[in-house]
Amino acid sequence: MAQEQITVIVLAAGMGTRMKSSLPKVMHRLADRPMVNHLLDTVQTLSPERVVVVIGPGMDRVADAVAPHPTVVQIDRLGTGHAVAQAKAALAGLAGTVLVLYGDTPLISAESLQAMLDCRRGAPNAPAVVVLGFRPLDPGQYGRLVVGADGLEAIVEYKDATEEQRALTLCNSGVMAVDGARLFDWIDKLSNDNAKGEYYLTDIVALARADGLTCGFVEGAEEEFLGVNSRVELAAAEAIVQGRLRRAAMDNGATLIDPSSVHFAWDTRLGQDVVVGPNVVFGPGVAIGDRVEIRSFSHLEQASVAADSIIGPFARLRPGARIGAAAHVGNFVEIKNATVEAGAKVNHLTYVGDARIGAGANIGAGTITCNYDGYTKSFTDVGAGAFIGSNSSLVAPVKIGAGAVIGAGSVITREVASGALAVARGSQMELSGWADRFRDRKQADAKDKKKE
Ligand code: UD1
Ligand code: MG
Repeated sequence: MAQEQITVIVLAAGMGTRMKSSLPKVMHRLADRPMVNHLLDTVQTLSPERVVVVIGPGMDRVADAVAPHPTVVQIDRLGTGHAVAQAKAALAGLAGTVLVLYGDTPLISAESLQAMLDCRRGAPNAPAVVVLGFRPLDPGQYGRLVVGADGLEAIVEYKDATEEQRALTLCNSGVMAVDGARLFDWIDKLSNDNAKGEYYLTDIVALARADGLTCGFVEGAEEEFLGVNSRVELAAAEAIVQGRLRRAAMDNGATLIDPSSVHFAWDTRLGQDVVVGPNVVFGPGVAIGDRVEIRSFSHLEQASVAADSIIGPFARLRPGARIGAAAHVGNFVEIKNATVEAGAKVNHLTYVGDARIGAGANIGAGTITCNYDGYTKSFTDVGAGAFIGSNSSLVAPVKIGAGAVIGAGSVITREVASGALAVARGSQMELSGWADRFRDRKQADAKDKKKE
């Protein structure tokens, strides 16, 4: 059987006034990316032919975020049916199935969408419209699904519902799969003669029935349909996304010692047998190799760590940190745009920025790469096997040769040859007996003062 064509319309024209934000609602982030992109990723699992996003005026940022998918602008917000109507011109010659989704309901699962498509394909007498329903603990003001002997008969909006209809517990999630060849005929027939004075998308169920067609529904879990309308709901959605990411990390073979305290980004990649301690934060763009240990209170973003390394506790890997295999990055160490090659150790109180730390090098406590002069960033190159004494400043651009030793407390401003020792600090002097004489004099002074 030829694959049925799938088209997706995402409604995202809502202003999201309750977010109290200058950002369009669907641009608020979950696990470090806009919620609309979570939804588009889920949709992508269905390999849709086309995806169109309906946005409001001035929502250029949403258009950028959803590119290359096209957007259409709904100027006046006259209801969900009116929003779908805006996509008509962009979707000429529509066939197959159209899925309508809400941009502010980003947690919907690929399984539920697939179940709707399967229901639509159920021959004979396949339903022309399939609605994704759910039974929330509190049905509140959701639209209710009216189900009869031969399937879904209508969706009634809460404000238009009778008392008996309001008592129904099966609610409309808003997600629909519709016969593409007929969708816009029904959309054209919608009226706004209802309690809200809006063009309800939900009325297409009754229109399909009037055309002698059947409609169906599938049920999903309440968690999938959490709509984000406020910062509180955004936080609730974040908690659900984090829960999913933590479970996936563990299912893929990572140990999370205290899962609820680990924050993931949507794209965090962990190898097998990675152990993540409590209170670790992964920003976007992090890839961790097998058997790496990320100890507690570490913060990583746009960084990679190769197998068998130990990071933290209290380590910070900033963008461009590339840690080689079996390397150690210890407490209060910050690495930015730098490569720490295999087996190197940077264990205590150190800043490494714009640098290469060669394989097996040892960077002593308190070492600083002075990479910035207030105008430009410069590079520090530390050769393999070099030993940098504690509390050294490496003033970039500078190169330390392989195997060189830098004396503790040095300020290195010039290239150091391979295998050399460089010490750049005031040399030690000693005055024998000076301290004893000093104390004697001070004590004598104090006695004289008392007598006066
Ligand atoms: C809608 C459903 C209701 C369902 C509920 C689930 C209708 C008529 N009602 O109600 O049955 O239980 O969702 O949450 O469909 N949007 C636009 N343009 C518009 C109007 C809405 O883009 O003109 C977008 C919104 O940004 C939002 C989505 O469509 O993402 C839903 O709109 P909303 O106003 O929240 O619909 P509800 O009244 O909650
Ligand atoms: Mg709503």
